[in-house]
Amino acid sequence: MEAFEKIKTLLTEISEAQPADKDGLEQFRIRFLGTKNIIKPIFGEMRNVPNDQKKDFGLALNELKAAAESRFNVLKDSIENAQDQSAGLGLDLSLPVDNKLQGSRHPVSIVMNKMIDIFEKIGFVVAEEREIEDDWHNFTAMNTPADHPARDMQDTFYLKNSITNLLRTHTSSVQARVMTTQKPPIRIIAPGRVYRNETISARSHCQFHQIEGLYIDKDVSFADMRQTLLYFAREMYGAKTDIRLRPSYFPFTEPSAEMDVWLGTDTASTKRLTKGTGWLEVLGCGMVDPNVLINCDIDPEEYSGFAFGIGIERSAMQKFNISDIRQLFENDVRFLRQFSNVI
Ligand code: PHE
Repeated sequence: MEAFEKIKTLLTEISEAQPADKDGLEQFRIRFLGTKNIIKPIFGEMRNVPNDQKKDFGLALNELKAAAESRFNVLKDSIENAQDQSAGLGLDLSLPVDNKLQGSRHPVSIVMNKMIDIFEKIGFVVAEEREIEDDWHNFTAMNTPADHPARDMQDTFYLKNSITNLLRTHTSSVQARVMTTQKPPIRIIAPGRVYRNETISARSHCQFHQIEGLYIDKDVSFADMRQTLLYFAREMYGAKTDIRLRPSYFPFTEPSAEMDVWLGTDTASTKRLTKGTGWLEVLGCGMVDPNVLINCDIDPEEYSGFAFGIGIERSAMQKFNISDIRQLFENDVRFLRQFSNVI
C-alpha cells in the first residue's frame, strides 16, 4: 500500500513541476529520468506487494515512468520556446540588471528644482520664457531706457547684425513678458539661463542661471516681500537661517535690496564663498518700480508688488562644495556622475 502511495505522490509532483529555466529542467531530468532516478528503487518494492496487486502495481509504475517522460518533453519544449522568443528580441531575460549607467541630475538643476518646490508651496507658478529677448523686454520695460547708465551694469551679448535682439541678461525680462500678457494678481517664478559678456574665471561665467520672482496684487508691502524671502531662506538653508537686507539699486525696483544669508566662517569653503564675511549674497529684490507697472499697462495706483532675482550657481557651489564655477558648464562626466544619487 505504501508503495502505491509513493507513486501517487510522485505523479502529483511530476504534473505540478514547473522549472523556470534550463537548470531547473535538468534537476527534473536527474530526479525522474536520470540513472539514479527516484522511480527505479520503487520497482524493487514489487516483491513486497501482494500477488493479486502485482499487476496493478506494475501498470502504475509504468504509468509513472511515462508521465515523467512526457512531462519532461513538455517542459523542455516550453523552456526552449521561451528562450527562442527572448533571443528573437535580442534579450536575455536571465541577465542581472545593470544599474551602472544611470544618469544624474546636474547640480544646477538640483538646486533650481528645490527652489521651485519651495515657491510652489506658497502659490507661485512657474513661467518660462525665451533666452533670445528683445531690447524692450530686457531693458526698456524694466525702466532701463537706452541712455540709462544702468545698462552698463550688465554687459550684453547682442545678436549679430541686430541692435534689438540680445541674449537676456537677467530673468527680469520675464516680468515684462508676464505683466504685458496677464492681469494681476500675478504670482510667478521664472527659472532659466541668462548671459553676460563677462570674463570667465573660477567665480564668474558668461552664462548662469537665475530664478525670478514676481508678485503683483493690491496692497503688497515690503514686509510681505521680506517675509516671503525669509521663508525661502529657511526652507533652503535651514530653519535657523538668518537673513539681512542691504539697501541696493536696480532700475526696476524702488526701494531695492540685496539679500544675504548667514553661513558663518567655520569651514574653508564657507570662508571662501563668503569672502570671509560669513554672509552669502543670494538675491536682489525690491518693490516693483511704478514706471515698470506703467510700461506694462498696470495701474500703479491700484496695484503694487515685489520682485526678486536669485542666482543659482553660488548656492549650488555652496551646497556641493564646488570651488570653480566653470565645472558647472564643462559637462565632464566624471564631475557629473558624482551627483547620480542626489535627487
Ligand atoms: N535682475 C537683477 C539681476 O540680474 C536681480 C533682480 C531681480 C533685482 C528682481 C530686483 C528684482 O541682478
